[in-house]
Amino acid sequence: MRSELRQHATRLNQASLKALAATRADFAPISAAGWKINLARQFLDSDAETALLKHGAETGLTQAAADLFSGAIVNPSEGRPALHWALRATHPLSGEAETVRRSVEPALEFAGKIQRGEVRTADGKPFTAVLHIGIGGSDFGPRLIADAFDDLAPPGITLRFAANVDPYDLDRAMAGLDPLSTLVIGVSKSFGTEETLYNLGRARRWLEAALGDKSSQHLALVTAVPEKAKAWLGGREAYTFDMPISVGGRFSLWSAASLACMIYLGPDNFRKILNGANAMDEHVRTAPLESNAAMRLALLDFWNTSIRGKPMRVLLAYANRLRMLPTYMQQLEMESNGKSVDSEGNTVEPPTAPALWGGEGSVGQHSYHQWLHQGSQDVPCEFIFAPDFDRDSDGLDALTAHALAQAEVLANGRSIEEVRAEEPRISAAVSAQKVHAGGRPSSLLSHADFGPEAFGALVSLFEHRTYFAGKLWGLNPFDQWGVERGKTMAGRLKAILKTPSEAADPVTAALLRQIF
Ligand code: F6P
Repeated sequence: MRSELRQHATRLNQASLKALAATRADFAPISAAGWKINLARQFLDSDAETALLKHGAETGLTQAAADLFSGAIVNPSEGRPALHWALRATHPLSGEAETVRRSVEPALEFAGKIQRGEVRTADGKPFTAVLHIGIGGSDFGPRLIADAFDDLAPPGITLRFAANVDPYDLDRAMAGLDPLSTLVIGVSKSFGTEETLYNLGRARRWLEAALGDKSSQHLALVTAVPEKAKAWLGGREAYTFDMPISVGGRFSLWSAASLACMIYLGPDNFRKILNGANAMDEHVRTAPLESNAAMRLALLDFWNTSIRGKPMRVLLAYANRLRMLPTYMQQLEMESNGKSVDSEGNTVEPPTAPALWGGEGSVGQHSYHQWLHQGSQDVPCEFIFAPDFDRDSDGLDALTAHALAQAEVLANGRSIEEVRAEEPRISAAVSAQKVHAGGRPSSLLSHADFGPEAFGALVSLFEHRTYFAGKLWGLNPFDQWGVERGKTMAGRLKAILKTPSEAADPVTAALLRQIF
């Protein structure tokens, strides 16, 4: 099948993207849960799309969706289902999925009590600050939500985040906070992550210094391993909440892992995010392959990476609220599918997942867009256009014009003839430097009424896209064996930092001497 797809790619690579896209200009965008997805400026035509859809069918994407939503073991290396979708289900489920669905409610209820002042500080006052401590999937999602919707947060509570083991991160997260009015929330699915335990240990001592044994009223722990949290507490108390073991860390922002956001935004706003994700789940669960947004985007990723050989995808978030989205999606996609071996231990056909990077539009136009337009590597871009349309119209008009202009210039380029016709007085040398090769494909996802629901739907869409893309690459998107070796090595090196001669690797030994 890949050979047939490669024949289509070879044929289409010869085409002018400008001309090819023009033939697809009137194609209706893919619609899902309020999102519209336009693929006109991709190197695709109806024959190639037919072949891609056939590949998706032969790969079993429809069965993969059924497996996911039925709670089947879709994470074979850990023998687990993937039940992140159950966290936002709006109707009772069965078995473990129902347990997962119910696990969110205690956190939402607690958040409401904090918001209403029913749960108060040790000296009986309302909390005025929340300090979230976690990293990776226990940080990126809550941080993204808080940043995207901080204007929806009722006044009265400051929210801070600390993730890095660099002590400056926690130092500045705690700067100006008063332990007497701060709730510290430690989030760690494994309750074994060095950075989080380091920061949590410092924060607990900070609370204890001010509150003594009353510090237990200022500490909440969210984990899938409560027994490890209990051991860490060493007989002390704390509020504790469950992160289900069958929800991957990078799929856990819907869970109690986002307790800080539930408090900061209020449970009602957080429920809107859950409901938006559920709407997208229903689309993904029921839509046939050819109109299934997540499956189509997964096939596009497979097409651009494995068939057209493009090693990157660039995510351009033309919405200030979504400025942290590329960082969040990097973990979701690259920790899920940045692999080369399947769950049976067999090497899969390369290449697999692309490197995903990007940033906020229009800001990136003053940075890496030069590379995108005139660099030597043409890589697919993905515009997420979802501003607040009820804000200043001049700014919105400019943002809209920039997003559309960038996509058009990337695809259509600017020929030397156009440069000479438009700027006849410039030298031949400068004219040549003003040429844009074009032929740089992009997709554009837009939403007419962005808010918590649309946000939830978008993240759900990318979760399912990541799962289906993993299927297409033959990978298990739900484990992450590749993150362990570095941690083990760091533990070994930490023990010999001051005795470089004990380092097994000569360059590491030299670097230790260089640093110390
Ligand atoms: O090391 C990678 C990772 O395990 C991520 O998958 C996870 O989101 C992050 O570390 C944090 O893990 P935990 O929530 O168990 O502290």
